[in-house]
Amino acid sequence: PHVAVVVVAAGSGTRLGAGGPKAFVGIDDRTILRHCLDGVFAARPAQVVVVAPADRVGEALVDAHEAAGERAPLTSVVAGGATRQASVAAGLAALWPGIRTVLVHDAARALAPGDLVDRVVDAVERTGWGVVPVLPVVDTIKRVEGERITGVVDRAELAAAQTPQGFRRDVLDAAYRVAQAEYTDDSALVAAAGHPLASVEGSPLAFKITTPADLERARSLISRAPA
Ligand code: C5P
Repeated sequence: PHVAVVVVAAGSGTRLGAGGPKAFVGIDDRTILRHCLDGVFAARPAQVVVVAPADRVGEALVDAHEAAGERAPLTSVVAGGATRQASVAAGLAALWPGIRTVLVHDAARALAPGDLVDRVVDAVERTGWGVVPVLPVVDTIKRVEGERITGVVDRAELAAAQTPQGFRRDVLDAAYRVAQAEYTDDSALVAAAGHPLASVEGSPLAFKITTPADLERARSLISRAPA
């Protein structure tokens, strides 16, 4: 009853090259944002905050309303900022006072399943730590400087981070208040503020749609497994 999910959907989608903000591109007859929200609402959070480009707030409200269906958690749409971090901050400002656990999720991870959301919530509530879903790194990773390979990295020590990432609300609010730099994800910002992080098993379905090839992959996954 006290879990909120902030879905950031205010990116420009330049790398996807679909001519508009990525979250509003269709995978099938549903947008990337709508698919993402279907997974989020399946986990029955108490509040969902969608962060959209300022000129797409109305469209985001339609997706949120349709994804919510009969379930009626507190749902709001707010305008995002110039960076992902500014967009998350805008979402946090819209949280209901009773929220104690917050997940931050990329709309672009459109096929992230509801059970991944549940797994992150459970781990936050069990540990009180920041929680990051991760997958093993499958490629061999090299350190490079220009064209020279300067080192090898043991991939067994590495993991690829996904969203939703989950936090105690007081921890995330405090970390955002003191953040002095731009971080690539919320867990890096929380770690920089001195808080511990835990990992849970990620999901192959939670890949981020960034390029046209990623969008094709999402389309073929959906056509093979109709909802
Ligand atoms: O650009 P990238 O795919 O890494 O963005 C990750 C997520 O952050 C996307 O869902 C995107 O919509 C969101 N974002 C945002 N505001 C920005 C930049 C990105 O909400 N200014």
